[in-house]
Amino acid sequence: MPHDSNPALSHLARIGRTRLAHTPTPLIPAPRLAAGISAEVDISVKADAWTGLGLGGNKVRKLEYELDPARLRGVTHLITAGGPHSNHCRVTAAAAAHLGFGCSLVVNGAPEDPGRGNPRLHRLLGARIVTVADKVDRTPGMEDEARRIGAAGGRALVVPVGASTPRGALGYVHSLVEMHEQSGGDRRPPPWIFTSSSSGGTMAGLILGCAILGWKAQLVGVSPDEPAATILKKAGDIALGAARMLDESGSGPNGADLGLAGRVRRATAAVFTTDDFVGPGYGRSTPDGKAAIDLFATRAGVILDPVYTGKAAAAMIAWIRKGKVPAGSRVIFVHTGGHPAHFR
Ligand SMILES: Cc1ncc(COP(=O)(O)O)c(C=O)c1O
Repeated sequence: MPHDSNPALSHLARIGRTRLAHTPTPLIPAPRLAAGISAEVDISVKADAWTGLGLGGNKVRKLEYELDPARLRGVTHLITAGGPHSNHCRVTAAAAAHLGFGCSLVVNGAPEDPGRGNPRLHRLLGARIVTVADKVDRTPGMEDEARRIGAAGGRALVVPVGASTPRGALGYVHSLVEMHEQSGGDRRPPPWIFTSSSSGGTMAGLILGCAILGWKAQLVGVSPDEPAATILKKAGDIALGAARMLDESGSGPNGADLGLAGRVRRATAAVFTTDDFVGPGYGRSTPDGKAAIDLFATRAGVILDPVYTGKAAAAMIAWIRKGKVPAGSRVIFVHTGGHPAHFR
């Protein structure tokens, strides 16, 4: 079915969105990278690291829906939270600067001062940094900050951590639709798609996109931190919430339910996730992650990051070399960004 006559995509088009990302991002063939891994596969890189705003990455697509113009009415400030090196905090601060809002970032763990990498960029983008001791203090910290802004006559919109909400995940449906189009649609066998998956919003959007298009791409989510079952559960739940949003966002041609929830459940059941590449823990590098970063750099000119995409690429390489990805397959690696981590 052509995309413009897909009912679920028509529903998606009715949901408010603030354009922030430079899209469609390119799907870049990487024949030298493929040759360095195995001559038997065809690899392309979906360049979502290049979504532009504030050095880009996957979070920009999610923010487009979190920052629905209807939700921004009367808003003076954006608030979000993350670790001191958060990519999500960086692009939220960039969106605030672009749209003319103040921005507060509630960060667990003191960032170094003057700071390098993302902490430096958080400040450069004009954000106010509020430090809390622990991850569990982030939500109360954001609530306190919203109250403080309210007491001063402003109004804050709180963007949840990672923008990994059903609303945010809608941004990733677009990435999936782009990949479908760019890789030959239903005229060619569906590819394997590898992505880093942590708070689940990116994978949720990819799942929902596959459900909407009826595309049997084999999704693989690679964890940088939590157990594989946890990341799959998070992504599946978010995808279901996003499907319900689409079901409710229009009544269909004859008031018909689009039936997306069932399709999302089936698409989620077909997803593979792995936590075999986490190594010693979140943000701690691994030898195979480093090797993957070297291979992408020297054979494709693509800079991955050590926290998320390096480990996801290590998984892709291992799965291809072990034959888990069958010879003759097409593979898409979703480059979700994160390169400021090289400058920590
Ligand atoms: C560079 C990068 N890649 C991947 C991810 C994981 O995406 P998600 O949180 O949507 O699962 C993140 C999340 O922080 C990220 O910053």
